[in-house]
Amino acid sequence: MRYGHFDDKQREFVITRPDTPLPWLNMLGQDEFYGLCTQTAGGYSFWKDARLRRITRYRYNNNPMDNDGRFLYVRHGKSVWNPGWKPSRTKLDGFECRHGLGYTNIVGRKDGIEVQQRVFIPPNENVEIWKVTVRNRTKQRQKLSLFSYVEFCFYEALNDMTNYQRTYSIGEVEIEGNAIYHKTEYRERRNHYTLFGCTRKIDGFDTSRDAFVGVHHGLHDPKAVLAGKCTNSHAYGWNPVGAHQVNLNLAPGAEETFAYVLAYVDQGDLPKFDAPFVINKTKGREVLKRYSDIAEIDRAFAAVKGRWDELLSNFTTPDAPNEHLRRMVNVWNQVQCMATFNLSRSTSGYETGIGRGMGYRDSNQDILGFVHLLPERARQRILDIASTQLSDGTCFHQYQPLTKKGNADIGGGFNDDPLWLILSTCAYIRETGDASILNEVCGYADKPGSKDTLLHHIETSIAYTLNNRGPHGLPLIGHADWNDCLNLNCFSKEPNESFQVTGDIAGSKAESVMIAGLFLYATRDLAALYGHLGRAEDKQRVEGYYGDMLKTVETQAWDGAWYTRAFDAQSRPVGSKACKEGKVFIESQAWCVLGGAGQDNGRAKKALQAVEKHLYHPKYGCALQWPPYSEYHLELGEVSSYPPGYKENAGVFSHNNTWIHIGWAMFGDGERALDYYLSICPSAKPDHDIYRSEPYVYAQMTASQFSPTPGEAKNSWLTGTAAWSFVVGSQYILGIQPDFNGLRIDPCVPKDWKGFTVQRKYRGVTYTIIVKNPKKKSKGIKTLVVDGKKVDGNVVPLPSDGRSSVTVEATLGA
Ligand code: BGC
Ligand code: NOJ
Repeated sequence: MRYGHFDDKQREFVITRPDTPLPWLNMLGQDEFYGLCTQTAGGYSFWKDARLRRITRYRYNNNPMDNDGRFLYVRHGKSVWNPGWKPSRTKLDGFECRHGLGYTNIVGRKDGIEVQQRVFIPPNENVEIWKVTVRNRTKQRQKLSLFSYVEFCFYEALNDMTNYQRTYSIGEVEIEGNAIYHKTEYRERRNHYTLFGCTRKIDGFDTSRDAFVGVHHGLHDPKAVLAGKCTNSHAYGWNPVGAHQVNLNLAPGAEETFAYVLAYVDQGDLPKFDAPFVINKTKGREVLKRYSDIAEIDRAFAAVKGRWDELLSNFTTPDAPNEHLRRMVNVWNQVQCMATFNLSRSTSGYETGIGRGMGYRDSNQDILGFVHLLPERARQRILDIASTQLSDGTCFHQYQPLTKKGNADIGGGFNDDPLWLILSTCAYIRETGDASILNEVCGYADKPGSKDTLLHHIETSIAYTLNNRGPHGLPLIGHADWNDCLNLNCFSKEPNESFQVTGDIAGSKAESVMIAGLFLYATRDLAALYGHLGRAEDKQRVEGYYGDMLKTVETQAWDGAWYTRAFDAQSRPVGSKACKEGKVFIESQAWCVLGGAGQDNGRAKKALQAVEKHLYHPKYGCALQWPPYSEYHLELGEVSSYPPGYKENAGVFSHNNTWIHIGWAMFGDGERALDYYLSICPSAKPDHDIYRSEPYVYAQMTASQFSPTPGEAKNSWLTGTAAWSFVVGSQYILGIQPDFNGLRIDPCVPKDWKGFTVQRKYRGVTYTIIVKNPKKKSKGIKTLVVDGKKVDGNVVPLPSDGRSSVTVEATLGA
């Protein structure tokens, strides 16, 4: 690979040249303080909510050029350079960026001077630290100046990037010693400020962008750096920045280490001011003092690493025979699951942080890949999500992480939303055994303070689907189902309207087969849960719903060689051989199969074969549908708005591919399960000049074989692919499935795999699971031996004697 490689041992991705085909991003932080950081130190930081508490600025219309960030400039002799290459883009003699777990380490070298910038966010701290080491690798004494740079954001990012008549007058800062305090709006309603400090004595500073960068200059040639001197400017309004100048005089071979600290400080109960216009800096000073000790910084860094060691030890396979699967499942896929859990679809290189907040369906699905990491947090999230459901069963499609309130502009009416809550809840209970979550009170968004429980929400969700069905008896789609762009009830003719929420025709009855499949899956899950709880009547009742819906699917939705995708508002089929374009869709094949349709009549297999025949490409994955729409269809909505082969119009939408992977695994086709898995696996992409996105995290979409740029990925990091791929890799290929009564072992692997081992921490017990495959089978456990004793079936019973470690030997070959 031309741009870098995995260092599996260090759990790092090493980028060896800065001009990657697109910015390659890392996500820092996993509690309240977060940072996006590219290989050139681009990106920004925020506290909890990228829309409401953005700390540094990032200009999204620059994307994918990635022009703002946390920069260091070196002024050495006549040259000006950045260790991360950008923004100056001065040619470096050496460059390396290591994206690790919770940190990014950039080293740039020029003319014998090496600057290392290690950026990280310590656990449970509201600070971002840049530990910096400057080394003189020459045989002469070297004098140079180092300049730091960030631009402050006025917290509410939408206002910040749109309302300049206000923002150009409100900026306020204070400077104390080496620290720059950004205190815009602190005098009025805010009780928090930002601090940007340097732990070393400084030789100058700037807080005015006009002074440091210059009105007619750019970040690539900031005036102050060109001049070799900060101006000690004090910003009044306009665009406050934080820049420190440090002059270094290094003996041959000498180095100096210090740090920059970017902190979000909540004043809490402290008095806000020491004097008029002078903020009380007690807390800020404490932060600076603490991190002025390099040993403390190193302890904080060790804590970041320690935390990931701990988290990743919950699921690890040292020897699964495929290296891509191994490194994704062991490391990067789990890292991405952490990011999607925390950020949903709110902020990345492609999501601006002001758009979508947390998605209802998204966050529920994200839990499936996260719950084994921190079940307690998953528990809270499930309750938060449920609280954005309304008492009639509809759900706010998105909500803000800070306020936990639904976003009114998008509203609800995406009819798959309610059902995903059942999947997340069941996954949580399977992981933890904690069914008490069902009795937690979590009100409805329109009935705050109501005493209804999570189980009530779940039944409300089921009832919602049952009560909202169309002419074929299939669930009504509403604004859209999982496919946000299948807008069958909205007929938008104007470019300035929303595809999804424009002019729903009252009583319009478009139906979704995908929701029907999801309903099958959800009711089967719920019936199993009721069974586990010993609630036989409820189990039976829910099985009844399942049976009825299954019948409807089989009688109404089979198109001859695959499952129809939907029926439009006129009850015409979508995703049918009768259609001119958009004949076969992936989602209905996936969910009907996952929901258990087509088992006795061979249709499930045929549905997967239709995917293979019409949608699958071994190099890129499965396109969402075929043939792509070549014209805009008013009756279909946004799906037909994208150019053919991109996004929902027949792009490879990685997320839905994973369901097909599960389908093949259910059928015991280990070769296909793995081949399909690898077809979308970023680590397995052979050519990054084509693929372009990060090799270590999934992208939402890859241009399909039906596009002019097949194989080109976009929108990395925040995608439901993360959680589902982890489910595929860990539960369906490696086959370690948490169930209500213990771990089920049900791998589906290529026949030539000789076996593998998994270490799994589950309900306080460490399981070492050794899977053997002497007979070259793909699926089916023949013998299960638990701590030396043979056990029937394939579920490892929970130890009843308080053992904290259990060894399992499972042999394929049934
Ligand atoms: C957007 C679509 C997008 C989809 C999936 C929707 O909310 O409107 O443009 O394709 O999400 O990312
Ligand atoms: C991304 C959205 O976040 C998700 O909710 C949706 O299911 C997919 N796009 C498909 O449209």
